[in-house]
Amino acid sequence: MTYTVIRLPQYTKADLDEITGGLDDPFEVAALGVRSRDKDVHYGVRHEGRLVAHAGLVDATVSVGARRFPVAGLGGVVVAPDLRGQGLARLVVDAAVAHARGTGAEFGLLFCLPDRMPLYRRLGWRESTDGMRVEQPGEAVVDHPLHTMWLPLAEDAVWPAGRARLHSLPM
Ligand SMILES: CC(C)(COP(=O)(O)OP(=O)(O)OC[C@H]1O[C@@H](n2cnc3c(N)ncnc32)[C@H](O)[C@@H]1OP(=O)(O)O)[C@@H](O)C(=O)NCCC(=O)NCCS
Repeated sequence: MTYTVIRLPQYTKADLDEITGGLDDPFEVAALGVRSRDKDVHYGVRHEGRLVAHAGLVDATVSVGARRFPVAGLGGVVVAPDLRGQGLARLVVDAAVAHARGTGAEFGLLFCLPDRMPLYRRLGWRESTDGMRVEQPGEAVVDHPLHTMWLPLAEDAVWPAGRARLHSLPM
């Protein structure tokens, strides 16, 4: 099967439900209680009139020590349960990363559960084990409970060592 990735003009909860079939908590992170940001740029795949895959991007800023730099936050990566294992996540993540390369961001950044890390490693992402503090509603700043992964967008960019701080809600 050949799938084509497209830029989506918008992405709503109804679109997510169309992909998952209305699954409750499709990312399996609800119990963590971490609020995340909406994404601004969306890529998806339509198959037989139905949205079946999505990846979203949002601009964000990270600091590590005295260094402050722009990142492209990747999130909302999801594929219809009946079409997994066919490269659809790769397709939408690749499209989002290609877009991110034109934004001036130095790194891609995402947060994920440990069992999703092999997928991103396969796509070239690496883990930062130093942890990241992120903003939450009410001016709270908390350690993100998920794993932090990064992708170099500028040539030879290497994620700086040290505890990082994201200057927004996570993606
Ligand atoms: C995670 C998810 C998006 C993967 O989608 P998918 O379409 O099955 O993934 P792909 O088929 O595009 O896989 C891409 C590559 O990663 C590899 N991969 C995927 N899952 C893997 C795993 N658990 N372990 C090792 N490799 C994995 C694939 O083999 C493939 O490699 P290849 O292209 O070299 O063969 C999908 O399972 C999903 O929607 N899960 C629920 C939502 C979610 O957890 N999203 C991620 C949030 S961080």
